[in-house]
Amino acid sequence: MAGIDYSQKIPNNVNLAEDRRLQRALEAWQPKYVDWWKEMGPDGFMADDVYLRTAIDVGKEGWAHFGHVQMPDYRWGIFLAEPEKDRTIGFGDLKGEPVWQEVPGEYRSDLRRLIVVQGDTEPASVEQQRLLGKSAPSLYDLRNLFQVNIEEGRHLWAMVYLLFGYFGREGREEADAMLERRSGDPDQPRILEAFNEKTPDWLSFFMFTYFTDRDGKYQLGALKESAFDPLSRTCDFMLKEEAHHMFVGASGIGRIIQRTCDLMKEHNTEDVGPHGGINLDTIQRYINFHYSVSMDLFGSPKSTNAAIYYSAGLKGRFAEANKDDDHLLVSGESTFLSIRDGQIFEDSSRSLNLVNDDVRSDYSEDCGKGVRRWNRILADNNVDFEMKLPHVGFHRAVGPFANANISPTGDVLSDEQWEASVSKWLPSEEEQVYVSSLMVPEYRVGKMAGWIAAPSSGINTQTVDYEYVKL
Ligand SMILES: [Fe+2]
Ligand SMILES: [Fe+2]
Repeated sequence: MAGIDYSQKIPNNVNLAEDRRLQRALEAWQPKYVDWWKEMGPDGFMADDVYLRTAIDVGKEGWAHFGHVQMPDYRWGIFLAEPEKDRTIGFGDLKGEPVWQEVPGEYRSDLRRLIVVQGDTEPASVEQQRLLGKSAPSLYDLRNLFQVNIEEGRHLWAMVYLLFGYFGREGREEADAMLERRSGDPDQPRILEAFNEKTPDWLSFFMFTYFTDRDGKYQLGALKESAFDPLSRTCDFMLKEEAHHMFVGASGIGRIIQRTCDLMKEHNTEDVGPHGGINLDTIQRYINFHYSVSMDLFGSPKSTNAAIYYSAGLKGRFAEANKDDDHLLVSGESTFLSIRDGQIFEDSSRSLNLVNDDVRSDYSEDCGKGVRRWNRILADNNVDFEMKLPHVGFHRAVGPFANANISPTGDVLSDEQWEASVSKWLPSEEEQVYVSSLMVPEYRVGKMAGWIAAPSSGINTQTVDYEYVKL
């Protein structure tokens, strides 16, 4: 079961060959996908050999094969984690009942919506990152970028398989629409706002993979709990791929911080700009921006939609089984931060209405772990600076703080106070221009751009100075 059949046009472990209609439908979508990839995937590099991992098994051990591939020849496929025997629904009104192998009629449109919203983010991030190869700080990073892009493409396949397989004509139309929307397009934008933002430079890319791919981890984790078993199994395997994306972000930011520390020491200054580095307070401002826009992806903390999804068993909380409650949430109360008359206060509501905030707060806690690792780098270099996540209300466009001015430390500000200080907290235009000016490609084997330290080890069993991309 776990093995993946690569003799098929569409590699898969779902016995696609046994469902001729579905197979034919997906095979008809495949060339449209490849056209999209060629148009909106990485700009250039399509004829270069890239050291990529390809899934060969969905089991715990040794699921990936590494080798040089030209990106358009990558074998995108449909890989579901192995079914869990006798799996039952873990939460909501139907808790304890067997999971569904088909979509119940009454949940069809809600489930389709959840799948479309998730699926739409996958090609969106590829589009956002399509120019970054032109300014890669090393071949190692270039390869990591393409690995992330390739796998986001595969995540689209994962969601499209569900749409084709379980949602009939409407599902097929949604799958086509996924290839028609474009990140940042005024007429046909991607569904979620953070996926219409630009990812203009590598500092933003590492922030995106740290903060926004981590939103993906939490959304997929919540969907993995779903009573709709094919969705659960798809998300389970996607999460394995996602881990590498977040590693790219966490280690990338760590390497930039390390390089900044090196330059600070070498030149005995806090301002490493004249020496081609990125200042620590600039990195902090990028953290503030990316963390706050990524929190918006969780939606409003209090949400009746999320409550409906939860009660119906469509979407749970992250690591539902680890939650120390009844997994029904109909009687308990929980608190969340809100604002009224210029005062931040702890509001409360039925726990069922606060599912979004539960997932978001787990996410925030997880984000803090990387920040602590970055601070250890600073401490190890005897640099007196501490990176911090801003307050949950800072720079929010969704939820109770959407129209409030909240400082990173959680002070409520007037419009004037906000305007006077915002350039301390969010990247200024000037600063972004400076970061962009550093984005000069370094394609020599084993070399790194001057604003980032080398990684401590290479990919798979290779060394850092391996030829990850053959240009
Ligand atoms: Fe993804
Ligand atoms: Fe990702």
